[in-house]
Amino acid sequence: MTKAHFETTKFADTPLALVIGCGGMGMGVARALGRHHPLLIADISPSRLAEAVETLRLEGFIAAGQVCDIVDRAQVAALGKVIAQRHGIRVLAHIAAVGGAERDWRKMMAVDLIGPHLIADMAEPHMVQGGAAIFVGSLAGYLPPHGRDIDALLDEPLQPGFMKGIESAIGSNPKWIDTYAYAKHGITRLAETRARAWGKRGVRVVSLSPGMIDSPMARAQGATLPSHGGDDKDIPRNEKAQEIPLGREGTLPEIISVIEFLVSDAASFINGIDIVVDGGHRAEWRARGVISR
Ligand SMILES: NC(=O)c1ccc[n+]([C@@H]2O[C@H](COP(=O)([O-])OP(=O)(O)OC[C@H]3O[C@@H](n4cnc5c(N)ncnc54)[C@H](O)[C@@H]3O)[C@@H](O)[C@H]2O)c1
Repeated sequence: MTKAHFETTKFADTPLALVIGCGGMGMGVARALGRHHPLLIADISPSRLAEAVETLRLEGFIAAGQVCDIVDRAQVAALGKVIAQRHGIRVLAHIAAVGGAERDWRKMMAVDLIGPHLIADMAEPHMVQGGAAIFVGSLAGYLPPHGRDIDALLDEPLQPGFMKGIESAIGSNPKWIDTYAYAKHGITRLAETRARAWGKRGVRVVSLSPGMIDSPMARAQGATLPSHGGDDKDIPRNEKAQEIPLGREGTLPEIISVIEFLVSDAASFINGIDIVVDGGHRAEWRARGVISR
């Protein structure tokens, strides 16, 4: 899509909302942001992206799509070139990730941490004054223990030797939940470091860590989750959900409404912080000694 599409609209000179990932959460976020901004959606899947853009346009949104594998530097650069033809980015919503259905830990670490860093680097020069970026993490990001060395490693995933460093830190055949947890811990750190760097230009950066959310990704992950009970067991999702003080999983609208708030001017002094949206699950984990943060 294309320049012409934007130029014929009421949003002709308006900065974009760039949404990375058009799965369950991405589509909800696109609909929320599309009420105020022209949309540019990026996703690795050409068919899912085409369907998403067509659906959004039929619903009356101004939307364009760009196929982009966020771990492919050339494709991320191509996305940057499309953005350079527009009027900057007002909102960056980085949502894409792979979850427990992905069994290759290197691929998971690449998509869930390296990709967001590449997107942040690409987006940086295009963010407009008063803009906001949100990176979606996970409550799982609170599982890794404090550690300066691991934090320093997670802060620089584009450095050569990053995967080797991760192997030394968490083992050469980590479980998916450990890889996911470290990658998502890295996401909260990414938001913090970019908030410090971008704040001087009037751009805010936050992360949002959802807890257990009933969503396509969660369903694809399977019917069980790690128990975190000091054993190696998995337990049924519905049993796990009983740990949540509210006694249930969250829903996508309960995440999307918070994202919509965080990137809006109503949240204009919220910066460099992780917002946990989990029904109280983190508080319960802290009380049980599962996590210390
Ligand atoms: N659903 C949950 O229970 C839950 C809980 C905690 C955190 N999260 C986080 O929420 C976010 C979104 O979850 P969702 O439910 O929308 O997931 P989803 O699986 O529905 O959507 C993910 C999207 O990312 C895209 N994607 C995957 N790899 C990509 C790549 N390399 N380049 C570009 N796009 C790629 C997929 O094609 C898909 O459209 C993720 O960051 C996830 O880790 C979800």
